[in-house]
Amino acid sequence: MDQNSFQIKCQRKHFLKDKHYHLLIDDDRISISQSVNFQQSKYILDLIFQNLVFWKTDENQLIAFGIKYNQVLKWFHAEKTALEALYRELHTRVFFGNISAIYESKEILGAGASCKVYKVVNKITHYEFASKCIRKDYVFKRNDKERYNRLIQEIELMRLVEHNSIVKMVDLYEGEKSYYIIMELLKGETLHTFTKKTKLNIYQIKTVMNKCLKALCYLNLLNIIHRDLKLENLVLLEPNNVETVKIIDFGLAIPLSTPQLQICGTPGYIAPEMFIDKYPYTTKVDMFSLGSIFYKLLSRKSLFSGNNSDEILENNKRFKCNNHLKNCSHEILDLLKQMLQKDPNKRISPEQALLHPFFDDTIQGDLGVAEESPHEIVKTFPHIKPMQISNSNDNIKIQVIRGSQPSFDLSLGSNYFPSFDDINKKSRNGSDHIIE
Ligand SMILES: Nc1ncnc2c1ncn2[C@@H]1O[C@H](COP(=O)(O)OP(=O)(O)O)[C@@H](O)[C@H]1O
Ligand SMILES: [Mg+2]
Repeated sequence: MDQNSFQIKCQRKHFLKDKHYHLLIDDDRISISQSVNFQQSKYILDLIFQNLVFWKTDENQLIAFGIKYNQVLKWFHAEKTALEALYRELHTRVFFGNISAIYESKEILGAGASCKVYKVVNKITHYEFASKCIRKDYVFKRNDKERYNRLIQEIELMRLVEHNSIVKMVDLYEGEKSYYIIMELLKGETLHTFTKKTKLNIYQIKTVMNKCLKALCYLNLLNIIHRDLKLENLVLLEPNNVETVKIIDFGLAIPLSTPQLQICGTPGYIAPEMFIDKYPYTTKVDMFSLGSIFYKLLSRKSLFSGNNSDEILENNKRFKCNNHLKNCSHEILDLLKQMLQKDPNKRISPEQALLHPFFDDTIQGDLGVAEESPHEIVKTFPHIKPMQISNSNDNIKIQVIRGSQPSFDLSLGSNYFPSFDDINKKSRNGSDHIIE
């Protein structure tokens, strides 16, 4: 038996005499046996998303857990501390059933295309959380399993990330009609709502960029592409405190190794290389989206305009950028230009961006930003291994596509994001549009 394995004692209540069991978690499975050497386990449950674990409470304390065996729910009682340890051992590894035993739902916090997010309170600890509720009729609306696979992917990726500027996942529940992703509660607003009312000063913008760049360095290390960075997916943990900004919504995130090459994201934030047919884009797409966010924070206008999302998408696709920037320093314009580079190979990386002179004065300052270099971020998370790129055939295929891909210049023409000198000249002439 592995010394990292987890064990507790539990009992099944029977009318005449309780039966005593040992529970072991080892190799991604739960084994429950009457003998301590687990040679003949009576119940075995693989820790996979299809298998649920249930909880029973009394006076808001855990008193039992349940698993399905031959379609019948079997309850096992145990000491409160043993059950709490089991809960901690299993949370986010499997879906739990009967959410209402543990969480009480409060007001709605937000909604997205696929979900509603509610504030919930843990009945045992009384801590507040956010619960992203995704309806099964949405997940299974189409015949293919794409939406279900995407949900599992969102969960798998959120499970890997552990960073101050990225929302943390706490628990997973499955009900009859919905799936629930329980996350830390972000009590502030999305940056989209917040910046509508409040104009961020340059120090606040610097702080937001710094935090997001560090989060992108981290996602780079894990080889994760977020693919939907935008103001709506940046939320403040504490109201009005931009230092506490966090990236949310891994609904479109993928491992870099996945051969998924489709255009995705939100019109106005999509990197130009995504529009090239079958282009094997990388984590650099997130840098472009962050550049578009940077532009919006500076100018309070969108990088790509339009009266509806189709028009915005069209301008995004044609790389028809706006220029509303006034009185920006050379450093700001230089960093922005490098983030919005059309060619992903020339676009600045998050690691390089953090070393840009724009952040110079924050290194010794007391703004709480740029306190650690990208290299220190690596040290902060030594336990996290970057995702391995598997040697599947799909990956070999993608390598071939990558190798035979025409150069970016050839496939899109060479109208890279123009120098900001050109932009300033054009805007003085009264034109919003900077390229054809
Ligand atoms: N952890 C959280 N704390 C507070 N509010 C949240 C949290 N996660 C999401 N929200 C709110 O719910 C909205 C939708 O969540 P999101 O994960 O972006 O869903 P979708 O994938 O449908 O866009 C967000 O824009 C935000 O307003
Ligand atoms: Mg969202």
